[in-house]
Amino acid sequence: MCGIVGYVGNGSAREIIIDGLKKLEYRGYDSSGIAFDAGGKIEIRKCQGRISNLEAILSKETIDAHTGIGHTRWATHGAPSDVNAHPHANSDGSIAIVHNGILENYIEIKEWLAKDYEITFKSETDSEVIAHLIGIYYDGNLEDAVFKAIDRMRGAYALCVVAKDEPDKIVAVRKDAPLIAGIGHGCNFIASDIPALLKYVREIYLIENNETVVVTADNIKIYNADRQEVKRDVFHVNWDADAAEKDGYSHFMLKEIHEQPKGIYETLHRRIDENGEIVLDGIKMTKSDIENFNKVYIVACGTAYHAGLVGKSAIEKMAHIPVEVEVASEFRYRDPFVDDKTLFIAISQSGETLDTLAALREAKRKGARVLSVVNVVGSSVARESDDVFYTWAGPEIAVASTKAYTTQLMCMYIIALYMGRTKGTIDEAYYKEFINELALIPDKLEKVLADEPKIEELAKQLYRNEHVFFIGRGPDAGVSYEGSLKLKEISYINSFAIAAGELKHGTIALIEQDTVVVALATQDRLFEKMLSNIQEVKARGAYVIGLAKEGNADIEKQADKTIYIPQCIDEITPLLSVVPLQMLAYYIAKLRGCDIDKPKNLAKSVTVE
Ligand code: F6R
Repeated sequence: MCGIVGYVGNGSAREIIIDGLKKLEYRGYDSSGIAFDAGGKIEIRKCQGRISNLEAILSKETIDAHTGIGHTRWATHGAPSDVNAHPHANSDGSIAIVHNGILENYIEIKEWLAKDYEITFKSETDSEVIAHLIGIYYDGNLEDAVFKAIDRMRGAYALCVVAKDEPDKIVAVRKDAPLIAGIGHGCNFIASDIPALLKYVREIYLIENNETVVVTADNIKIYNADRQEVKRDVFHVNWDADAAEKDGYSHFMLKEIHEQPKGIYETLHRRIDENGEIVLDGIKMTKSDIENFNKVYIVACGTAYHAGLVGKSAIEKMAHIPVEVEVASEFRYRDPFVDDKTLFIAISQSGETLDTLAALREAKRKGARVLSVVNVVGSSVARESDDVFYTWAGPEIAVASTKAYTTQLMCMYIIALYMGRTKGTIDEAYYKEFINELALIPDKLEKVLADEPKIEELAKQLYRNEHVFFIGRGPDAGVSYEGSLKLKEISYINSFAIAAGELKHGTIALIEQDTVVVALATQDRLFEKMLSNIQEVKARGAYVIGLAKEGNADIEKQADKTIYIPQCIDEITPLLSVVPLQMLAYYIAKLRGCDIDKPKNLAKSVTVE
């Protein structure tokens, strides 16, 4: 995701900022840029692509700047491009900003600036609006202008600003996006993340929400939302650089598991307005398009395919349309029945998976309307789709997908709700209850994550096993496949998932004394059926880990160990139940000494057949 680095002092702002930005590369980005004081004016250099592209531009000139701000961008509003890259400046170039996050009311501010101040905009970004907004309020004191601007701004952001007329100052604001200030000797720093500054400082201030910080070479002043100066204890960072990139987590996978409440929150809230209505900005699919579909294909690979399985139940239930879910590598060679009444949904974290892309092209060729659910903005799947529904997971670094899956699930629920609402196949009360239940998930997920020590203990008991089975019914069957994939891909344990009712048709032959079976029983209406399936495997000597909703304590009579998730409606349990399975896979793989973030034989983006 986007990164920010700023510097004021006697050193080379350019070198320090580029160095800091490089430390944030692991977060994923598509463009970078820097604004620096060039003696009476602000110069900006920025471009699409790697930081090395920016370095190549900078290497052609001698730059002796001592104040500057830099940015790595992960596109949200507007495709990755030179012009959309940060920093952005106001019309006369006297103010420059870098911005992480989203300015939610940017359209309203943009229209006002265009109408009342005749401002024209160079980029498609929400961020450029902020530079102009500060520009019109600027009257010789940057922090005053920033205070006025943030009063008008809605959204979640970290913002960093410089002004031509105050060349030794950076003003930065934190609103729901990370920001720190680094305390140097004769110089000071600002950054979105600790790793960016570790080479230079170990003493930092952690900026809190709604605080504004004014950084000069010899001072860092922090102001609260009432513009009162606040004192902050110095935080000493004792992580090594490697741990810092992972925010102190031992692996990216664990960090990403913990980022799920945020990813789910973002994915939902970017699509729901204050009245609880779904807003599909940028999606052109109309009511008559939706009414015209008589079939939906969901096509994807691996984890994304598993998200599709859950999507199928949701869309069929809410929109009353038959849905087929298929792995992309099969779909593309099957001559599937697709026409202009087909909605084709491609799900892909990377947006570059060759099989998914090929299936999408095939569906398009046959006349389907293509809606994609994608994490990486501007990726091939996104570019080739008629409509894109972005997940807000942020960059996923670990090869094993975690937060992409749960945000994909969230998208599938929103799409299903939207289709059902548009077609009138769900009523107002159902819709409202469902949205309310979705909104409660991030907090419930925090509770699930708090069970981490318990899961780690369980992993200690299980990690020497060479075979693990996962069973479940309904949405739990889909989550079983995902839990099993997580385990096998990072721990190399032979793991198999099957719909619980299907066990008795053959696979149960493999269950013997002490075989580990993870039994998902989160569906109220199928709970008793699952208890019977658990009994079947217990009768053959299995060691059963049950996974159920709080309150369904009957499972303890059957299972040897039980993991609980908070109560929620049956349809959305996958958002919660997958997380203990991700943690279990993680801790088992860790105990087996596996290379968790880069499992053998696997790649993050599979661009071959
Ligand atoms: C498993 C995993 C893979 C991907 C699959 C599709 O943890 O990450 O199964 O889900 O390769 O990748 P995307 O979603 O990028 O199309």
